[in-house]
Amino acid sequence: MSDNHKTSICTLANLKGGTSKTTTTVNLAAAFAHTGKRVLVVDMDPQGSATEILGGRDAAKQTGKSLAYAIRNELPLEAVALSSNTNNVDLLAGTSDLQQIVKEKTGSFTNDKLLKFVFETKALHQYQVILVDTHPSRDCLLASALNMTHYYLIPVFPEPSSSRGLLEMVELAEEVRKYSNSSLTILGCVITKFDKRNATHRNYEKIIREIAASANFHVFENNIPISNHVQAAESACLPLLDYQPNSTIATSYSMLAGEILPALKGRRVGRIPTPNTKSLAQAAHASAIEVIDEI
Ligand SMILES: Nc1ncnc2c1ncn2[C@@H]1O[C@H](COP(=O)(O)OP(=O)(O)OP(=O)(O)O)[C@@H](O)[C@H]1O
Ligand SMILES: [Mg+2]
Repeated sequence: MSDNHKTSICTLANLKGGTSKTTTTVNLAAAFAHTGKRVLVVDMDPQGSATEILGGRDAAKQTGKSLAYAIRNELPLEAVALSSNTNNVDLLAGTSDLQQIVKEKTGSFTNDKLLKFVFETKALHQYQVILVDTHPSRDCLLASALNMTHYYLIPVFPEPSSSRGLLEMVELAEEVRKYSNSSLTILGCVITKFDKRNATHRNYEKIIREIAASANFHVFENNIPISNHVQAAESACLPLLDYQPNSTIATSYSMLAGEILPALKGRRVGRIPTPNTKSLAQAAHASAIEVIDEI
C-alpha cells in the first residue's frame, strides 16, 4: 500500500479550552475531503460541538449510533459511523453519554484504551484521514485519544497563556509516548483566531514560533484568522468551505490542510521527531517573564 493510502489518525488537543480545536477539526476535515480524501471525524467531546456542526446530532439521537455506544459495547467504528453533511466526511458522534463513561471508567486499569475496539477494525482503512476532536480535560477520553492516535496537532491562541498551555500539552503527550504509544508524533501547532492588526497577536505569534523552534517542533505557516464567519457557519451547521468557500478563513483552512497532508504518513515507525520538553519549559518560563516585564 502506498503512503497515500495509509490511514493517518490525528488528534486535536489543547488542555486549554476555546482554542479552536473543534472549529479546526471540522474545517480541516472538510478541506481534506475537498481534495478527495475520505475522512472520519471522531468527536470525543461530550458537548458534541463537532457533531452538531457536521449535522450529526439528530441522526445520533434517532439511531442511537454514537461513540459512547460503541465504547460501551466494544463495537468497531463501522457499527456506529454516521454520514455527515459534508461529502466524504463520516462521523462518530460525540454525545453527553461520554461524560457518563468517564464516571463509569474511573479507577479502571484500561480506561485509557477506550478506542481500542472502535479503531481495531479493517474498516478503519477506508479512511485516509481520521481527525479526533477532544475536550480540554486531563481525563480518560483524552488519554484514550492520545493512546490510539498517530499524530497530534495543537491549536493555540496568540495570548499570554499560550506558552503554558503548549508546555502542558506537550508534556502530557510525551508522557503518553514514553509509556504507552511509542509512535505518537507531534505534527505541530497552528495559531488560531489570529488578528494580524493586533500588535499583541503579532508579538505572541513571534513568541510561539521562537518557543517551537527552540523546542524542536513545527508551527504551521498558515495562521487561522479571526473571523465572524465562524459563528455564522456554526449556526448554519456547516463547515466554512461549504458555507463561505471564498472567505479568507476558508482559504486559510484549505492552505493549512495542504501544509498538513504531506506530513501524514500513517503510523510512524523507527525514530520519530520528539519535542524537547526541557527547552520548551525554559522558553515558556522566559516568555512568561517577558510578559510580566511588559506589564
Ligand atoms: N477563527 C475564529 N474566528 C472567530 N471565532 C472563532 C474562530 N475559531 C473559533 N472561534 C470561536 O471560538 C469559540 C471556541 O472555538 P472552538 O469551539 O472551536 O474551540 P475548542 O478549542 O473546541 O473549545 P473547547 O475547548 O470548549 O472544546 C467558538 O465560539 C468559536 O465559534
Ligand atoms: Mg471543542
